[in-house]
Amino acid sequence: MMQTNENAIEHIPVTEPERQYYFIEKCKDYVRKISEELRRPLTAAVITFGCQMNARDSEKLTGILEKIGYTMIDQEEKADFVIYNTCTVRENANQRVYGRLGQLNRVKRKNPHMLIGLCGCMMQEPHVVEKLKKSYRFVDLIFGTHNIYKFAEVLATRFESERMVIDIWKDTDRIVEDLPSERKYSFKSGVNIMFGCNNFCSYCIVPYVRGRERSRNPRDIIREIENLAADGVKEVMLLGQNVNSYGKTLEEPMTFAELLREVEKIDGLERIRFMTSHPKDLSDELIEVMRTSKKICHHLHLPVQSGSTEILKKMNRRYTKEQYLELVHKIREAVPDISLTTDIIVGFPQETEEDFEETLDVVRKVRYDSAFTFIYSKRTGTPAAVMEGQVPEDVVKDRFDRLLKEVQTIASEECAKHEGTIQTALVEQVNEHDPSLVTGRLGNNLLVHFPGTKEQIGKLIDVKLLECKGFYYIGEAVEK
Ligand code: 5AD
Ligand code: SF4
Repeated sequence: MMQTNENAIEHIPVTEPERQYYFIEKCKDYVRKISEELRRPLTAAVITFGCQMNARDSEKLTGILEKIGYTMIDQEEKADFVIYNTCTVRENANQRVYGRLGQLNRVKRKNPHMLIGLCGCMMQEPHVVEKLKKSYRFVDLIFGTHNIYKFAEVLATRFESERMVIDIWKDTDRIVEDLPSERKYSFKSGVNIMFGCNNFCSYCIVPYVRGRERSRNPRDIIREIENLAADGVKEVMLLGQNVNSYGKTLEEPMTFAELLREVEKIDGLERIRFMTSHPKDLSDELIEVMRTSKKICHHLHLPVQSGSTEILKKMNRRYTKEQYLELVHKIREAVPDISLTTDIIVGFPQETEEDFEETLDVVRKVRYDSAFTFIYSKRTGTPAAVMEGQVPEDVVKDRFDRLLKEVQTIASEECAKHEGTIQTALVEQVNEHDPSLVTGRLGNNLLVHFPGTKEQIGKLIDVKLLECKGFYYIGEAVEK
């Protein structure tokens, strides 16, 4: 008896990704059996919260689910397996997950073989997992950001054990390559170039939930993009919490600008984007690569967070208002038509009216093409959470409204400047409201709607921007 058991254990591969392919096969058997009992295919829905990094992770989960035999659907209340890929960057993201879990519990009561899985950044917070264990017993599996590649293994454990499976790692230095992944779009894709973050901005939970910074090997990145391009992908978005510090931790260090030069050479690839850039690490070398590149989109997301040097210091951002403005000036000199976007936090502890006006001043000076504005959210465990001088809610709300108005007015004025120009759009879809139109994305990341057909999806088309509608355009295709 002993002998057989040992043999069985020996058959499980210990190396990755082979081990996960083994568990994918195992899960496939379980899914086939349940599906035969129910006499219908099993369905799964992956619901993504948060950033592009999470969206990319969800594609990896979807790739594995499809291999296992699930049919993917969008509606969570109709799915046999629902996964929430969570975000915890602000408290309201957490609240939304608890709310939706409550609703899902009612569905699960009527559908007992339904599975509910939770993963993503929120799961890396111990108090969240405690709460789930106590009050959300109907959840079936919980895993974190560091071991997402183990999804099939965690699911197999759940199939075998019939009880809640929790697998969370505190941190990792490992990157597992070559797992399945399913793209949401055929013509564009996110590509992780690094994971984690070492910046420790004082308000931000990300370094605690995504771990230390580690870069993927450039050869793996290039190979992935070459395969994507061969598969018809025209545009890639290189993803990392701080892409400007790419490559510093590699055995053979390499800069982000050097990586971009390599990506540029890939045949068939037409557009390169990247996110997110930390101003403190944006090099002259990168600006030069952006200036000379034929493929890098003229769009830069450059989070400022605050315009007040005092607040920036308390945020541990490691640049001043003047340094930020100087950087913007340098980029605009090199790439005059660059579209700049940003993130801004309002109501950081001790922010005074004067500090806030410095932020408005930066907004007016830079004239962003768009900006994501956030109300400061206290994240337990971050240095800012215990700072004195939290700003009263009504004051924050008032500042937020004033900021939003300023940002929107400027953004629509900037948008209008391009009226009448001809620009290239990558067609993404048939327009949701009017099927005679298609929707394309311009290099500056804005959308244009113009008469077209679904055959144009995935193609780059020159479009005349006839009318600016504030933050998108109505246009018409023009002959090259
Ligand atoms: N409160 C509000 N906004 C935050 N962000 C990150 N942490 C917080 C927080 N605690 C914002 C930052 C960041 C974006 C992704 O989310 O602006 O750039
Ligand atoms: Fe993305 Fe940060 Fe939210 Fe995680 S916490 S999903 S890294 S924004």
